[in-house]
Amino acid sequence: MRVLVIGQGGREHALVKALYFSPTVTEVHALPGNPGISEAICHAVDISNHEEILSLCRRFQFDLVVIGPETPLVQGLSDFLRNAKFQVFGPSQEAANLEGSKIFSKEFMQSAGIPTAPFQVVRSVEDVRKAHKAFTPPYVFKADGLAGGKGVYICPTIEELENVAKDVFDKKILGNAGGQALLEQFNKGYELSFFILTNGRNYVALPLAQDHKKIGEGETGPNTGGMGTVAPIRILDEEYNSIVKKVVEPTVKALQTKNLFYRGVLFIGLIMTDKGPSVLEYNVRFGDPEAQVLLPLLDGDWGQTMLKIAKGEMPNLSWKNIYAACVVLAAEGYPNTVVKGTEIEGDLNMQTTSSYLLHAGTKKEGSRWLVDGGRVLNCVGIGSSLKEAIKKSYEIAEHVHWKGRQMRSDIGKKFL
Ligand code: GLY
Repeated sequence: MRVLVIGQGGREHALVKALYFSPTVTEVHALPGNPGISEAICHAVDISNHEEILSLCRRFQFDLVVIGPETPLVQGLSDFLRNAKFQVFGPSQEAANLEGSKIFSKEFMQSAGIPTAPFQVVRSVEDVRKAHKAFTPPYVFKADGLAGGKGVYICPTIEELENVAKDVFDKKILGNAGGQALLEQFNKGYELSFFILTNGRNYVALPLAQDHKKIGEGETGPNTGGMGTVAPIRILDEEYNSIVKKVVEPTVKALQTKNLFYRGVLFIGLIMTDKGPSVLEYNVRFGDPEAQVLLPLLDGDWGQTMLKIAKGEMPNLSWKNIYAACVVLAAEGYPNTVVKGTEIEGDLNMQTTSSYLLHAGTKKEGSRWLVDGGRVLNCVGIGSSLKEAIKKSYEIAEHVHWKGRQMRSDIGKKFL
């Protein structure tokens, strides 16, 4: 089987690797991929050029196309390729609105009775001034559209909230993504990432993973795309069952009743409050860096698993009795202005039997590797215990260095 992976980050490198090691996959291609992806044939095609992607699919007759990031899904790439009779792992454009529009997603949850924080839609600073009285601080302001991880603001005071509203609505710092927004009640609790593979009618759950979203140790400082993950993590059966009953089952049922065509992975971002689970957001793709720790856990063939979902069938999955950890190495300045072009020292193809590097934001110039993105490298460790997996990922992290390299040293610590 010949597979194409769309995307270019650490998640896509993890997908390529998982497919490369799938017994029934003979060839993996990536579009555009990145210079560190050695397991695939990379094609330098613009991800938004659907016609060119289709002609590549026709040329190589891919048996399966796996779409990694949300943007091409929201832009309708999966429908476009499906209409041309390719098997695609990724939801339809309409269903991708679950991530592409926060308002669509909240209305979906509300109409299906899925627990989520109370909210109001706001479209101007004036709306925010009126609406804020219905909420207790800190105020949560979420831009409606895709904003590359920059659209969520937690504002301790009304002054800060108004400033954010001015930036988004008047100065348009998020462009079209900020045409409208949600004001949402802040919920206290711990966050959990719950992933399901679904054909829009049935689902199978993946093991639980936990991301570490803040740049600083002990969850301090600004939010990032994710600084590290561990999986599987365990929660009480009672909590797990309540997520399934209150969130997962009604979500899949609502996909069906609302006729949303979904064949892919759904990432449910939860906050576990003292009143039970509450949905923070849906993402219509694997998390990054959650994919990096979930994909190695499957005891089976990711190629066949994703192909089944793409065809609307359901796979039977079993999981290895192992743990995975991923420590992200980020560039100087991340998550604000990133310093690019710094030379990376070390062995960027470093791997052992139980640890390896995945490339997320690297660039090659001659024989030199340079920093080319916010999150630069992912250090993945596998072990028979979480402790061992974490140790392996930190060990491999020590093989690569650059000026200003950022790394949290407490990934997974609270689970030990
Ligand atoms: N790790 C969070 C995300 O992928 O959105």
